[in-house]
Amino acid sequence: MREPSTPPAESLLAWYDRHRRDLPWRAPPGARPDPYRVWLSEIMLQQTTVAAVAPRFAAFLARFPTVEALAAAPWEEVARAWAGLGYYARARNLHAAAKVVAEQGRFPEDAAGLRALPGVGDYTASAIAAIAFGRPEVPVDGNVERVVARLFAVEEPLPGAKPRLRALARRLGEEEAAKARPGDFAQALFDLGATVCTPRRPACTLCPCRVSCAGHRAGVAESLPRKAEKGLRPQRFGVVFWLEDAAGRVLLRRRPPAGLLGGMLELPGTPWREVRWGEAEAHEYAPAPVRWSNAGAVRHVFTHFALDLAVRVGRVERIGEALAVPRDEVLGAGLPGVMAKAAKAALSAAAVAEEAWVRASA
Ligand code: ADE
Repeated sequence: MREPSTPPAESLLAWYDRHRRDLPWRAPPGARPDPYRVWLSEIMLQQTTVAAVAPRFAAFLARFPTVEALAAAPWEEVARAWAGLGYYARARNLHAAAKVVAEQGRFPEDAAGLRALPGVGDYTASAIAAIAFGRPEVPVDGNVERVVARLFAVEEPLPGAKPRLRALARRLGEEEAAKARPGDFAQALFDLGATVCTPRRPACTLCPCRVSCAGHRAGVAESLPRKAEKGLRPQRFGVVFWLEDAAGRVLLRRRPPAGLLGGMLELPGTPWREVRWGEAEAHEYAPAPVRWSNAGAVRHVFTHFALDLAVRVGRVERIGEALAVPRDEVLGAGLPGVMAKAAKAALSAAAVAEEAWVRASA
């Protein structure tokens, strides 16, 4: 590790004042940020990119303009508004946290208080404390780790280097310029990491911290942060069944409340396991003893594993009491991303089959 030669906070903030990204959750320069918007954006950004969050943020805010409105909404509506934003456990925590805040009448204003809200970890707590309440915190996400690793030329690989990078980030935040504007300083680090100090081909010639940057001086900026070799994501396999009746209704079921995609709707199917399913053993999990035709497979990558989901399509005369949705409404029913992919595969396979049938009988 090397020391930056000039403290970078002041030049970083001057750069931010000219080049800050115009993002829908940001308050205009000098204006007081709305803690609800700051919190909401940070939760959404935990799992999704700025580009994906920006349009959805506005729609979510239009539907739930205040934390009280969010707290009062039924879970089904929150889940629907969350579609496409990733793990539903986050939406469930968001909803739970909104109820706590509405109950208390306001957001906690320091990192420790914020950390106590469901779904708020160390990073998110310091981001909200800094941005919404001007507390002297430096939130450290992957972008900030990269900026700091380069500024101080930290050669130790991730994830081992994390505590060191956090401590160095805290030191940057202790500069007078940063202490005067903690929220802007945090967001300046995010913006620098996203637009200049990028993972590949960083634009060092445009960087306000170039003269301070030990990594740049040593000619190693682009190669930092180093990463320890990591294992491949495990692979899992499952089979789902699209069962449709003569009235065009499709059988869905609800996942158990706890665990991955807990409480969300899905197509009925097998458990997800590490070996591919044989056709006969998969059929033991089929919702009806009908002839199943192959509608291909979809692939979805979760944080901890990749899922290969084979899709089968079948018909019955009538689906009974169970949870069934008209086929045109399945994609709007708030299915999680992986199940929406499977539903699309089934819908297009069913469309092909229908067309073949119409042609054969014409
Ligand atoms: N990533 C996480 N939080 C962010 C924010 N407030 N602005 C931009 N990028 C972010």
